Amino acid sequence: MNVGDLSGKTVAVTGAGSGIGRETALAFARRGADLEIGDLNEETVEATAEAIRKIDRGGVTAARVDVADAAQVRSWADAVHARIPALDILVNNAGVAIGGGFLDTTLEDWDWILGVNTKGVVHGCHAFAPAMVARGAGGHIVNVASMAGIVATDTLAAYCTTKFSIVGLSEALREELAPHGIGVSCICPGLINTPITRAAKLVGPLSGEENRAELVRTYEKRNYGPERVALAILRAIERNRAVTPVTPEAWMLYYLKRFSPGLVSWLSRRMGEASRRRLGIDR
Ligand SMILES: NC(=O)c1ccc[n+]([C@@H]2O[C@H](COP(=O)([O-])OP(=O)(O)OC[C@H]3O[C@@H](n4cnc5c(N)ncnc54)[C@H](O)[C@@H]3O)[C@@H](O)[C@H]2O)c1
Repeated sequence: MNVGDLSGKTVAVTGAGSGIGRETALAFARRGADLEIGDLNEETVEATAEAIRKIDRGGVTAARVDVADAAQVRSWADAVHARIPALDILVNNAGVAIGGGFLDTTLEDWDWILGVNTKGVVHGCHAFAPAMVARGAGGHIVNVASMAGIVATDTLAAYCTTKFSIVGLSEALREELAPHGIGVSCICPGLINTPITRAAKLVGPLSGEENRAELVRTYEKRNYGPERVALAILRAIERNRAVTPVTPEAWMLYYLKRFSPGLVSWLSRRMGEASRRRLGIDR
């Protein structure tokens, strides 16, 4: 799909109130698309809509949508489909994070993160993809996974589980929707400086304000902005890419995992040990 000028196209973005979702919605708006944006946080999604209105190109409708709730995503889709027959582009971006190992993650934590990160993407695809197929004019679905969907680390047990699931779902859906002219891209960013570092739930030895401050500092120092992920999303759509790492570290791990998986698990262990040492955590 040519993403140079998206006037007349409708794009939906979940989790558009902050970080990658906000910047992605703004990037689409600058190219003239009409935006349907959703977020759990009504205030922040409205703030993104206000910023889009200032760009003054396509239109924008903002809604409070909890992607973990199938009925809410369904009503959101019904409202969108009352205005247009189908989306041109769907970006399933909303996500949450848990920092911690498996043994420190409660079943309630699992329900929460699987609900948002895995089922949230399923709900988005389920509510919007059939109309895209029925319209018969193609389109594109972007699912935001993570570098943690390519390489697992023991400090992100639940998060990695959800992000691996999104890579798998995206690859399967890509095959299924290709005959309908609908592309599916899975975006796997590395460390992106967004408010996720403040929103993430830290459990077990990783919890505590000092660890939070260290996490925020690490991402700030890395200083890779969400607007660069937004541009990578546009490129992935234009080139109909399957799995797209974003940031040099994500690309490096993506290739290393293919050609030297043993080296990746050695690196992952070393990185885990280094961060535990930095945080003064004993196993
Ligand atoms: N920041 C990173 O380093 C990074 C790296 C790789 C992948 N990602 C992924 O990118 C996506 C966006 O993350 P971000 O860094 O912009 O985070 P963020 O915290 O800045 O934004 C996430 C947005 O999702 C919304 N949200 C949370 N739960 C929701 C729900 N149940 N329903 C609807 N909206 C909900 C939040 O309100 C927030 O506006 C996530 O899927 C995240 O896992 C982030």
